[in-house]
Amino acid sequence: MKPLISPSILNSDLGDLRGQLRLIQRADVAHVDVMDNHFVPNLTWGLPVVESCVKADVLPIDAHLMIEDPDRWAPAYAEVGCASVTFHAEAAAAPIRTAREIRRHGARVGLGLKPATDITPYVDLLHEFDMILVMTVEPGFGGQSFLGSMLPKIRRTREAINAAGIEVSVQVDGGISRTTIELAAEAGADNFVAGSAIFRAEDAPAEIDVLRALAARHRH
Ligand code: DX5
Ligand code: ZN
Repeated sequence: MKPLISPSILNSDLGDLRGQLRLIQRADVAHVDVMDNHFVPNLTWGLPVVESCVKADVLPIDAHLMIEDPDRWAPAYAEVGCASVTFHAEAAAAPIRTAREIRRHGARVGLGLKPATDITPYVDLLHEFDMILVMTVEPGFGGQSFLGSMLPKIRRTREAINAAGIEVSVQVDGGISRTTIELAAEAGADNFVAGSAIFRAEDAPAEIDVLRALAARHRH
């Protein structure tokens, strides 16, 4: 799979959402973090802001829902036109029903796993998803350090997908930068969320190209 770069706008200049999306236009998708201050100890925005990102019509929107009760809230993010909607395994009471509902609204669906959540219980359900998000930090904040201890989980996830003979993307999120992206790519990731590495770079578009080229050294 061709590596995809998904800049996270969490720590961008939020007063100029459209300008920030244009700044990262050469990326593949824009990653938008929804936090409810319950599932994670931080609060961002909800459906109206995500819908504005979709309507800006600059990049496909990848919604990462760090919220409780995604069974209730997640399908609406597909309905407003997000290209993909990821909810967390730890928060969903009915992950299969929710995944199917998201797909029914025309979006790709992702299953998020916090660092201490194993992929094993989901191995037989991989075909219900288009993407598995292996968090490489504890979710909640940008700018944290990549957890190298997640590499075996990335590898197991990729192996399980390949063994099932299906096309499912493996996304990594947290601490992805020039120094860590190749580790994740080598282990099996093909979709890379990067927040501070891109928005704190002097030249954000150039940084996207650098990250993409490093990731492309390892294909799956
Ligand atoms: C953290 C969010 C990430 C965050 C990544 O919980 O899910 O998307 O923005 O930021 P960096 O790349 O700075 O770790
Ligand atoms: Zn995220």
